[in-house]
Amino acid sequence: MTERNEVKDFNVVVTTSHQPDAEQVKKARELARSLGFPYVSRKRLKSISRPSLLVYVLEKNGRLVLVSEAGRLFFHPSAAKIRFINLKKGLSDHLIKALSPEGYEQVLDLTFGLGSEAILMAHFLPKGKVVGLEASVHIYNVVRYGMIHFLQSTVKPEEEWIKDAIRRIVLINADFREYVKNTPEESFDVVYCDPMFEQPKYASSSMNPLRPVAVYDTLSKEDVESFLRICRKKVIIKFHREDTWFKELEFHWITGSKKSGVFYGVIEKR
Ligand SMILES: C[S@@+](CC[C@H](N)C(=O)[O-])C[C@H]1O[C@@H](n2cnc3c(N)ncnc32)[C@H](O)[C@@H]1O
Repeated sequence: MTERNEVKDFNVVVTTSHQPDAEQVKKARELARSLGFPYVSRKRLKSISRPSLLVYVLEKNGRLVLVSEAGRLFFHPSAAKIRFINLKKGLSDHLIKALSPEGYEQVLDLTFGLGSEAILMAHFLPKGKVVGLEASVHIYNVVRYGMIHFLQSTVKPEEEWIKDAIRRIVLINADFREYVKNTPEESFDVVYCDPMFEQPKYASSSMNPLRPVAVYDTLSKEDVESFLRICRKKVIIKFHREDTWFKELEFHWITGSKKSGVFYGVIEKR
């Protein structure tokens, strides 16, 4: 577990959904052991329930949900799907424009979150891969489990591209500053970073359940210099126009939407 998550002092348990069968209980117990959190039966959960409790719930259909005061966090590639459909319709996507993939690139996604953007990028890298870093152990657990579960489940033919993309992703529970420090020069073609916005956009409901367990690091010039050191082509930074930290950074070009206020700044390695 990362130090930051310990500091937040959450109490964490693993359970099942209501009226589990024996197999589901066995899997939830195994999961609790592998995650290092106590297992409680669903019946007992009510007696220990309190607002700060984080509950990993293994559902009957095999989906893993992290339930907190902020809602239900689980892996779902819906944001990637919407952007994929828009691209197929001929609309442009600002991240893919910033990435301008040739198909072989090795991308380091420093802030994996739910992995929507990593999945989208990996789709355009049939000969490449995405290494994703996530500092929050809870987000890492839920998203890693969710991606494995997605690969094992039957999906509609039009969602097979998501499985292909996930197979090109490696997810690591790490803080990007520590990871970058220990990474040799020019190890990746592209380094991508999408820190949490300073002013939460609550309308973005898919992000809401992530908020209590997320890490809220912002970037400095020194961070960007360290990202440039480990890349061969470029660094891409996502920001919202209401963020303050990006103002000290210098980009070669920026693409984004004035309407949403979300931009991707590109620093080319020259
Ligand atoms: C805005 S979300 C990223 C969303 C992601 N682009 C997606 O498509 O789902 C930012 C994520 O970065 C993580 N994060 C913040 N600081 C980090 C750090 N220093 N190292 C690794 N991950 C970090 C947060 O916990 C959060 O999950």
